[in-house]
Amino acid sequence: MDDAVTRALTLSRRRMMAAGLGAFLAPALDPRQALAQPVFADYPFQLGVAAGDPAADGFVIWTRLAPDPLAPGYGMPARPVAVTWEVAEDEGFSRIAAKGEAVARPELGHAVHVEVAGLAPARTYHYRFVAGAERSLTGRARTTPAAGAAVSQVRFGVVGCQHYEQGYYTAHRRLAEEDELDFVFCYGDYIYEGRSARVWNSGAGPRANLRQHVGQEIYSLDDYRRRYAQYKMDADLQASHAAAAWFVSWDDHEIDNNWAGDLDQDGTDPALFRLRQQSAMQAYYEHMPLRRSALPTGSAMRLYRRADYGRLMRVNVLDTRQYRTDQACADRWGVCNELERANAEMLGQAQERFVFDSLATSPARWNVLAQQVMVMDLDRDPGPAYMANPDTWGGYRSPRGRLLRHIRDRQVSNPVILTGDEHQNYAGEVHLDGRDPGPAPIATEFVATSITSGGDGVDQQARMVAVQAANPQLKFNNSQRGYLLCDVTAERFQTAFRVLDKVSEPGGVVSTRATFAVPAGDTRLTSA
Ligand SMILES: [Fe+2]
Repeated sequence: MDDAVTRALTLSRRRMMAAGLGAFLAPALDPRQALAQPVFADYPFQLGVAAGDPAADGFVIWTRLAPDPLAPGYGMPARPVAVTWEVAEDEGFSRIAAKGEAVARPELGHAVHVEVAGLAPARTYHYRFVAGAERSLTGRARTTPAAGAAVSQVRFGVVGCQHYEQGYYTAHRRLAEEDELDFVFCYGDYIYEGRSARVWNSGAGPRANLRQHVGQEIYSLDDYRRRYAQYKMDADLQASHAAAAWFVSWDDHEIDNNWAGDLDQDGTDPALFRLRQQSAMQAYYEHMPLRRSALPTGSAMRLYRRADYGRLMRVNVLDTRQYRTDQACADRWGVCNELERANAEMLGQAQERFVFDSLATSPARWNVLAQQVMVMDLDRDPGPAYMANPDTWGGYRSPRGRLLRHIRDRQVSNPVILTGDEHQNYAGEVHLDGRDPGPAPIATEFVATSITSGGDGVDQQARMVAVQAANPQLKFNNSQRGYLLCDVTAERFQTAFRVLDKVSEPGGVVSTRATFAVPAGDTRLTSA
């Protein structure tokens, strides 16, 4: 910070004290009008910037003004504030491609979502925001190729499950350092709603929290806002947002562990749980680079959508939480005969129609389902019994069967499923019935491990060696932290499992633990 800025801030703080205005100096303006020249008591862009939902002509750019992110009122006045934005072709912002003014509104926690349009396809842009005398850091985002374009290559990352208390976000830093990312897909568990005891069990024995959530379990809009603010103040997370546009969806922890439709895991009155959902969904929208079409209405929010990378790849982003029926077997792992329930829903009827249409009419060579929970038919009991995780597609066998038969019968071109939730890496082949596989797999699935959840981890858990031996369709399993790096060409879909040596200390080193590919026209995995 230069001296002039320091002086201005000091002066403004002194004036505010004198005027009793707390953290913010508000010139006398019509309260219905946005403050054009706000003066902030502290840096207002502490939550970073983000871009999302790229299209051929633009993307969303996001920030949120919060000079005092964790305090009640986060250091902002209860008034709209003007924010200007710029999108440039170069890092130095000498060739401006688009610019404008947005209003950060108190109704949305002073978040700003700008849907930038009019840009050229398949190009990298740089963006930044200004509010008063303060300027944000710069982010980078790439538009998608034009509809129908021949595209030779797409590269993207897959991330999720970033429990703040269980590790450092080095994986985000390393992802930001990868070359030429077209986008990042975040399947969810962006935040965790609880507050762990100060000592938790990492699987490798008890260990102390590395960082501590502010507050207890979160329920109110203010609670969720503060949780997102705490996560978003992390510089490594900010770096991976700044490196590429993200497609985001959620899993359970954005609201509550293993929620399903309007049911939480504790049997709370759905009418009350919907109030909590309303707060959580508003905060989610406020903190994610989402388009206006995702603005929540009550306790509903449309997150399922798709994006095309020319004729090379179609990505269907799914929401497997909001429309599902309750988990079978009281959501307990074990042998249970409710897994085949005919009336179970995973996507809900409207989303299922959307996905089925999207797959059946796709012009793309590769068709990706970018979603949350495992589709592979994994028998989690290494012995003779069959054991499913009822929270995954394995616990929703009726909609799972519909989806896989649709892919098979409509001869969907090169289906690839991207998944998270497990806090482990997996590469596997998807059959209608894993115990009685057909002549060829119907699809291929890559499961991304967590950014931090579960702590440092191990190469493979002893229990999983036996599970893998009992599941020949499972080709790879690893239990370290990291992310997926996917390289897609006309010839193959390749996934590198990028893992970190540790997340319990900053500065972890990334390496490629394994690389698997699926050749176009086949659904069998090959180790690359
Ligand atoms: Fe998770």
